[in-house]
Parts: sequence; C-alpha cells; structure tokens
Amino acid sequence: MASDRKSVPNDLSAFWMPFTANRQFKKAPRMFVSADGMYYTTADGRKVLDGTAGLWCCNAGHNRPRITEAVQKQVTELDYAPAFQMGHPKAFELANALRDMAPEPFEHVFFTNSGSESVETALKIAIAYHRARGEGSRTRLIGRERGYHGVNFGGISVGGIVNNRRHFGTLLTGVDHLPHTHLPEKNAFTRGQPEHGAELADELEDIVALHGADTIAAVIVEPMAGSTGVLLPPKGYLERLREITKRHGILLIFDEVITGFGRLGSSFAAEHFNVMPDMITCAKGLTNGVIPMGAVLTTDAIHDAFMQGPEHMIELFHGYTYSGNPVASAAGLATLETYREEGLFENAASLAPYWEDAVHSLKGLPHVIDIRNMGLIGAIELEPIEGAPTKRAFQAFLDAYEKDLLIRTTGDIIALSPPLMISKGEIDELFGKLSEVLKNLE
Ligand SMILES: Cc1ncc(COP(=O)(O)O)c(C=O)c1O
Repeated sequence: MASDRKSVPNDLSAFWMPFTANRQFKKAPRMFVSADGMYYTTADGRKVLDGTAGLWCCNAGHNRPRITEAVQKQVTELDYAPAFQMGHPKAFELANALRDMAPEPFEHVFFTNSGSESVETALKIAIAYHRARGEGSRTRLIGRERGYHGVNFGGISVGGIVNNRRHFGTLLTGVDHLPHTHLPEKNAFTRGQPEHGAELADELEDIVALHGADTIAAVIVEPMAGSTGVLLPPKGYLERLREITKRHGILLIFDEVITGFGRLGSSFAAEHFNVMPDMITCAKGLTNGVIPMGAVLTTDAIHDAFMQGPEHMIELFHGYTYSGNPVASAAGLATLETYREEGLFENAASLAPYWEDAVHSLKGLPHVIDIRNMGLIGAIELEPIEGAPTKRAFQAFLDAYEKDLLIRTTGDIIALSPPLMISKGEIDELFGKLSEVLKNLE
C-alpha cells in the first residue's frame, strides 16, 4: 500500500466517471446526497425533481420502505451464496415472480447484473440454442442502427452507435444492421406510435437474402429505442419484424432494459405492443436501481433445447459470480411487490395521456424541432448548434439542474422518464421548469 499518498475527502480526481465529461464535472460538481420519493437532495440542500428515474431505473421512486427493509433484512440473513451448483430460495422466488409478471410465453429466467450483461447473455443463448438443435451455422447477429444494447463487445457490435466503432475498433464479426426507424421528415411531432416506417422491417428480407437465413441466429432490437433519443416503432413495424424472423427461423430478442417494468404502462413493451419475441432482456427497474441486477427471460422452447445430454453436465456454459445474488433478489422481490401493491404500472398507463399533452405543450418553443412520447417517456429534440452538436442540449441539462430539475440528454435530444409514482402536479412542475429552460436557451 502506498502509505505516503494522502487523500482528502473532497478529492474528485481518483474516480474516473462513466459516460461523463469528467473535466467539466470536476470543475463544477453536481452531487446528490439523498433521495426520497420524486426528489433528489443536492449537497447544497436543494430538492431536485427526478425527471429521469435516475437512469431510467428508479421506476418506483426513491427510498421506498419495502425495498429498503428487504435489503436490510437479507444482508443480515444471507449476504451471499455461490451461484454455481448451489442455490438459495430468494433467486427462485424472484424468477417465479418475474415469470408471473411477464407475458405468457416467458417461462424461464437467467439472472445477470446489468443490462449490458443481459444482452451478452441473450446473444450467447441465441447462438448456443441453434447449436444445441443442430443448426450450428446460425451464428450471425442482426442489430439496428441507433440501437443501444449496453457497453460490452456483443452489445456495442449489434448496437448502432458510431462512437463505439470510432473508439473501440472493428467489434464482433458476423454482425449486420437494420436501418433505424427515425423518420422526422414524415413523423415529426407524432403523438405515440408514428404512422410511417413499418416497411423498414422488410429490410430484414434483404439481409436474409444477402447472408442466408441459415447463418442468422437472432435479431435484437429495443421495441422502443431509448438511449439514442426515444425512437418509437412505427405502427406495424414490430409485427412485421416478428413475422419475418419467425418465417426464417431467426430468434427475435427485445431489449427491454428501459421499456420493462411499467415504463409504457404494462409489464413489458412486448405486452404493450402485443408482439412476443423469443427472449426479453431486462435490468434497471427490476430492482428499482437499488442493487445491480438484470435478467433474460426465455420461452420453454429455448430453455428446453438445452435440457438434454447427461444430467451431470452443465447445460449452458455461462453465468456470473453474482447471478441471482441474494441481496439483489430480495430487492427485486420487494420492487415487484411495490409495483403491484401501489398499482404503479396502472398509474403510468392512466397518466400517459396527461403526460402526452404536457410534453407536446413545448411545441413552438425556441429550437424545438421534434417532440415524441409514449407511456411515461418523452423526448424533445433540439436543433443542434452549427459545428457544436450536443452543446445546446447539454446546456439545457445544466440549466435544468440549476432550476432543480433532473433531465437526461443524448445528442441534442432531451429524454424524460420520471418515476411511475409521479402525480399530475409533479408533471406540471416538471414541464413548467423545462419550458423556462427552453425559453432562455441560446
Ligand atoms: C436498451 C438498453 N440495453 C442495455 C442497456 C445497458 O444497461 P446497463 O447500463 O445496466 O449495462 C441499456 C442502458 O441504458 C439500455 O437502455
């Protein structure tokens, strides 16, 4: 240990912050020190309205007693148990609760620790599934432009973000991409699902024609792309994708890391759109963000394909030290119970029209070039400053923080996703503050 190195409590240099402009932040830090309900409290004592449920994860709001107590109790009862070849009751209970909450075809749950790991897990299951059935040539993975599937190599390969290619090289081979579904020239200021663009799913036929269906394992998409700016599926698009994948024996994976757990007013987007993929990836709202945890939901058909061969053999050669961690499982159980008991998904569904009107009330404010919404999600797209993309939205983020409102920006798009416990009064507060920000933005 380097004993002569002295740290002072407010030294910010050691922590290399994720997805953060580190130098800017450390010159003028923005620190939250506590949170309750819909509000964070800053180090200087201000209450900041949480317009983003943390990072799309605190769907039940903050400091929820049932979740806090469950975590406290679990950590004293069983802090950790090995996840391989051993079990503990809470992981099984949570898998059952998740199955009961999910739409019908999803019967099995594989636990991970994050959305990124859920994506890697689903992609690996897809390839291994085909192999287990004797179709080992199906290894290709198809993603979509502007898709976000976390930060690991599989996820950034099927994802469609140019910065990942700029910074991290050639990524996985054997990957292709569908076009994104964002058509502002036709769909700007649409309320809910846009009318135009279902035919973009047909591009999958071209990809199949190019590579051969027998080389393709899976297509992965976010049913509604969140992190690259709230890109909504055009009416009929997901249905077409489902039809084409099924016809060619290709698995369809919905990445529901953002859309899971009530964001659209139902358990998962699959239920909301009534389109059933073969696998669902989730994380975030699974534990209300309190303890890291993710999961992959699969059908019987996928799971059962692995359950063959000698019984002493491991069927899926994959797993994490913390898969189904007891404390995370306890947090997950208490979170799902909180959603159910408080009717939070129903609250999101019933508030969605009010939310929609509130988001679209910003139309006409300076620099606003598009507004999109669905469930308790809203996006306000700003015209970029020439030669300085992202700068205008980042300024809006800083100004909102000064006005005691937490928003999130991606590119020049403001994305909103409040906790599902939000009230009409808090929606008014949120958009009152945001319109002040936008009115004064350069
Ligand atoms: C659709 C989607 N997939 C994966 C991830 C990655 O999740 P995590 O940050 O928990 O790894 C995210 C995170 O925002 C996401 O939105």
